[in-house]
Amino acid sequence: MGIETDIAGDWHAALAALAWQVELGLVDISAESPLNRYDLPEPVKAPPPPQAALPQRTPTPPPPEPEAANPEQAIAAARDAANRAGSLDALRDALAGYDHCELKKGARNLVFADGNPNARVLILGEAPGVEEDREGRPFVGRAGQLLDRMFAAIGLARDNPDPKAALYITNVMPWRPPQNRDPSPDEIAMMRPFVERHITLVDPDVIVVMGNTPLQALLKTNGILRARGHWEQALGKPVLPMTHPAYLLRNPAMKREAWADLLALQAKLRSQT
Ligand code: URA
Repeated sequence: MGIETDIAGDWHAALAALAWQVELGLVDISAESPLNRYDLPEPVKAPPPPQAALPQRTPTPPPPEPEAANPEQAIAAARDAANRAGSLDALRDALAGYDHCELKKGARNLVFADGNPNARVLILGEAPGVEEDREGRPFVGRAGQLLDRMFAAIGLARDNPDPKAALYITNVMPWRPPQNRDPSPDEIAMMRPFVERHITLVDPDVIVVMGNTPLQALLKTNGILRARGHWEQALGKPVLPMTHPAYLLRNPAMKREAWADLLALQAKLRSQT
């Protein structure tokens, strides 16, 4: 009994350690067959070229580190880059070229947007998670699947070519924060000009902000549980704050309120046609 408990304990500890390493980004956990690394042949060392054949060169200095910008400079650079973008493609390029956000260094992909750019409804989420970072598309993990089911219940889908039945989905942060931590106020502030430009370019009829990060980015306020279900205005458009689908997965009892919010959205869209 004692031994079995120990073995079970070790097994769970080993599984948790593996899961943690996957979370940290490890991808090669096992190979198809065992690999004895001691059997690998010694690497063959190429003989050094004769000194006389080498042209005399001064060593190339390493590329300069991008200048560490203070938050105001980072925001000004974001505003400049965002305002110069005249199309969604140009905005994506502007984000790809923006080097002031540290999150970019740890991300695999830029997660820009998904869905129909002519949609009447734009959904603004928080930041990519591990699946989104891997695929380069927003809301493709479990929370995204719930989001798709929620909006399908009122006849809206990201892949619908009809703008009236379509969604356009983007996030405040285009890069995954490590361990899915919340983006900092500085990180949100430097993305705000891009978010505002994104919304202006898509020009939806209604914006849905899902979770606290977009609430801070667009409405400059906190407390999604208080804000949800109350229509606000930003950039001259109606904005409906809703709880994030990841929160609903953890708190299924809150799905009732989310359903009420979806019906409010449906009513708003009907009243505007
Ligand atoms: N949560 C978000 O807010 N956005 C995503 O893209 C995925 C999960």
